[in-house]
Amino acid sequence: MRIYIADDYEQMSVKAALIVAGQITMKADSILGLCTGSTPIGMYKELVKMHRQQGLDFSQVITFNLDEYWGLSPENDQSYHYFMHENFFNHVNVKPNNIHIPNGLAEDINDECKRYEEAIRQANGLDLQVLGIGRNGHIGFNEPATEFIGETHLVELDTDTINANARFFASRAEVPTQAITMGIKTIMQAKKILLLANGEGKAQAIKEAVTGEVNPSVPASILQLHPDCTFLVDKAAAKYL
Ligand code: F6R
Repeated sequence: MRIYIADDYEQMSVKAALIVAGQITMKADSILGLCTGSTPIGMYKELVKMHRQQGLDFSQVITFNLDEYWGLSPENDQSYHYFMHENFFNHVNVKPNNIHIPNGLAEDINDECKRYEEAIRQANGLDLQVLGIGRNGHIGFNEPATEFIGETHLVELDTDTINANARFFASRAEVPTQAITMGIKTIMQAKKILLLANGEGKAQAIKEAVTGEVNPSVPASILQLHPDCTFLVDKAAAKYL
């Protein structure tokens, strides 16, 4: 695992965008795994800037998002579909057919998880997966647990996650309690992983993920076993390293 400590959020975001841009430059038809949340917003802004100002080309890129709330329609402004279009897809030239996000309204959850997993397999797996991290150490919505769950699945969100994400909703009661998430195996099979974290609120999770034992109670700790994983964090998130 490589660890890069950026001075601040701006520098982290620029560096993250450069890594993604480098991936696309080396392989125009890259398969990107993408995340949502506050953390990657700066990176998406930088990528949009690179697209507009330097012609960074996403026309052959295929994307798979990590997760989606269960029960939210793509039009719901709290859905991850909505987030991704608002913050990224509407501003670059990724082809709509190349965008994949789990369907939070699928009638059969098991079919949807299998379909998603199969779509990733058909694409020959992820070239680069970008991750954030929860304050509880989650990656995607793989919450602290007694075992690692391999493939895309439905998950009950942790109280901590619901509390953390309530800031985006009108009230805590509106936060969905379930989500579809790529599993740990799906994430670990990505050829490269880039985990981003900023702010002191993530410092404990980063410490446990980097220096703690590999344990499903801190899902991100599994990344210690990945052959090509970079943690790109700001100084505040690196406070305990
Ligand atoms: C989002 C995701 C989550 C977030 C994590 C951090 O797609 O998979 O694991 O990366 O909850 O969220 P923020 O960046 O809002 O602190």
